[in-house]
Amino acid sequence: MCGIFGYLNYLVERDRRFILDTLTNGLSRLEYRGYDSAGLAADGDSAEETYIFKQMGKVAALKKLVNEQQVDFEKTFISHCGMAHTRWATHGQPSQLNSHPHRSDPNNEFTIVHNGIITNYKEIKTLLSKKGISFETDTDTECVAKLTKYVYETTKDQNLTFTALVKQVAKELEGSFAFIFKSVHFPNEVVATRRGSPLLVGVKTAKKLKVDFVDVEFGSAADNVTPTPAEASSTGFLSAEDGHPQLHRSQSRAFLSEDGMPQPIEFFLASDAAAIVEHTKRVLYLEDDDIAHIASGELHIHRLRRDEGASTTRSIQTLEIELAEIMKGSFDHFMQKEIYEQPESVVNTMRGRVNFEKHQVTLGGLRGYLQIMRRARRIVFIACGTSYHSCLATRGIFEELTEIPAQIELASDFLDRRTPIFRDDVCVFVSQSGETADTILAMRYCLERGALCVGITNTVGSSISRESHCGVHINAGPEIGVASTKAYTSQYIALVMMALQLSEDRLSMTERRNAIIDGLYRLPQQIKQVLNQDSNLQQLASVTLSKEKSLLLMGRGYQNATCLEGALKIKEISYMHSEGILAGELKHGPLALVDENMPVILIMTKDSLYPKVQSALQQVTARKGQPIIVCNDDDEDLLKNYKTISVPQNVDCLQGLVNIVPLQLLSYHLAVIQGVDVDFPRNLAKSVTVE
Ligand code: AGP
Repeated sequence: MCGIFGYLNYLVERDRRFILDTLTNGLSRLEYRGYDSAGLAADGDSAEETYIFKQMGKVAALKKLVNEQQVDFEKTFISHCGMAHTRWATHGQPSQLNSHPHRSDPNNEFTIVHNGIITNYKEIKTLLSKKGISFETDTDTECVAKLTKYVYETTKDQNLTFTALVKQVAKELEGSFAFIFKSVHFPNEVVATRRGSPLLVGVKTAKKLKVDFVDVEFGSAADNVTPTPAEASSTGFLSAEDGHPQLHRSQSRAFLSEDGMPQPIEFFLASDAAAIVEHTKRVLYLEDDDIAHIASGELHIHRLRRDEGASTTRSIQTLEIELAEIMKGSFDHFMQKEIYEQPESVVNTMRGRVNFEKHQVTLGGLRGYLQIMRRARRIVFIACGTSYHSCLATRGIFEELTEIPAQIELASDFLDRRTPIFRDDVCVFVSQSGETADTILAMRYCLERGALCVGITNTVGSSISRESHCGVHINAGPEIGVASTKAYTSQYIALVMMALQLSEDRLSMTERRNAIIDGLYRLPQQIKQVLNQDSNLQQLASVTLSKEKSLLLMGRGYQNATCLEGALKIKEISYMHSEGILAGELKHGPLALVDENMPVILIMTKDSLYPKVQSALQQVTARKGQPIIVCNDDDEDLLKNYKTISVPQNVDCLQGLVNIVPLQLLSYHLAVIQGVDVDFPRNLAKSVTVE
């Protein structure tokens, strides 16, 4: 996954220093999306010239490179188009050359930044090579830059607009993409398009916009260059005696000022809202196959293809997140901040949805689909990584409350097996980013087979959010740290709420449902209690565990998911090998690993399986194992006889929400002790938007 950012000013005078700083600061907000290299493209001393600066490493390295340039930083622009990119390599090693923007030729006639993967880039490369076109990088993106120049040169007689040119290029592409195109042939214009990767447009004006939507423009009116006034008067087009160029037939009403003329305006394009919110909260989410054309202070939306019944407008929405939410505040890392946010984020997930007095749960996003879901033959949960663990954690309560068979699937394996899916299946896709390629592909597989597809995601406007039939936004707030923490607990709660709402018609479950809802009410305070033990966990990490090479986590029932999630946290940010083991499986092999030197964390909070976990404890201690036990804070026997991590007791199916918090903190401290860049763990990215 990569982060792309664009900034355009029109009738707003900005100097080059401001423009370049805006571009690199925008990248800094997107760095969690990929951070092995970065680059930007900006106008040279005329719009017919494009500068490109690219650098290995994080955005700070690019900033340093830019500041060293011998350019006139004080030069001002009344109109300017710039774009930038931070990369997570998919094609071609991380390198200065392979970083974006990519160009069509040494004169930078066309430059592009790209987030996604072009699956037919080899065929394109072969075709262009046969035309004598050479390549300087190993990337799929460069092929698109060169294809754009090739199409431009072979269609010159058609006088194509920039939009039409990009349209022709995009039609040749397969795979996923979010692009921003810039060209010296179309000065002061950019074209952006997306398919499968997110892209949104922020709008900043001094005066309030006239309307809060943009019309989607169909048809070929925009495919040929509008003649200039001089050309128009010679070719019989509408006369230009009033000094105004011919207005586009499809004038975007949104951006005109009261006197009907374009107004001072700035546009911000980005992969997600974190890079826009500090500039403006007015944003428009592009849909797949939208082509956005920004020129002369206007934003026009065209379509790569026309879908019957699709919306003919794109609304300009108001972002709810604040800049503070995407900053670290007093914390050292985003991950630490997000662990500590959980008492609030779990409340936000339940806000307006759980009535604790009446013991009612209402998920508005599922309204109208509940009866279909209750008649489902089965519920299939599909996700990756931590999101998969949230499904595992709640499978049991779904089956108990709804008595509908529940199946959970890792998205990649689900697709590999081409798992049979039917119209009477309900498929639930859980994804923090809403952009995970494997999960999106699984959703589209299920959509094609007529299943009801439900999206559970933390990202408004994401692909899963928009393409599913219905769903729930977990409202955990932006999660920047690559290691998912508050999203896990909020996904867990969202799924529990879904099970509660689905079973509200089952009177036999009333008592159980009320107990769970009461447990949800106690949850925020209980998480706070566990957070107060942070210094003990830091001590445990530094004194007992930091020198270890491996760590086993064991539990049963609802706590199996806790073990797998705890193990994932530890391995992905401290790089220590750790493994979650179902305690019932211990004697079928993993017990061979246990001796006095193997650290073991055993989850033994009270529930119906407590006696069986006691048996696992005996198996471990009989082999001289010295387990650290996660137990309830009133379990006197364990507290007295073992090294423990004590937690308050909640309802069995919610206990995992409490038990995961010490493991999140433990993984965080182990990572800090190991000197890992916690928010940027090696080889990983926040959202895996490629298969
Ligand atoms: C979680 O700590 C990992 N970063 C990773 O497993 C993540 O949960 C997985 O990639 C799924 O991401 P998603 O929730 O955005 O789909």
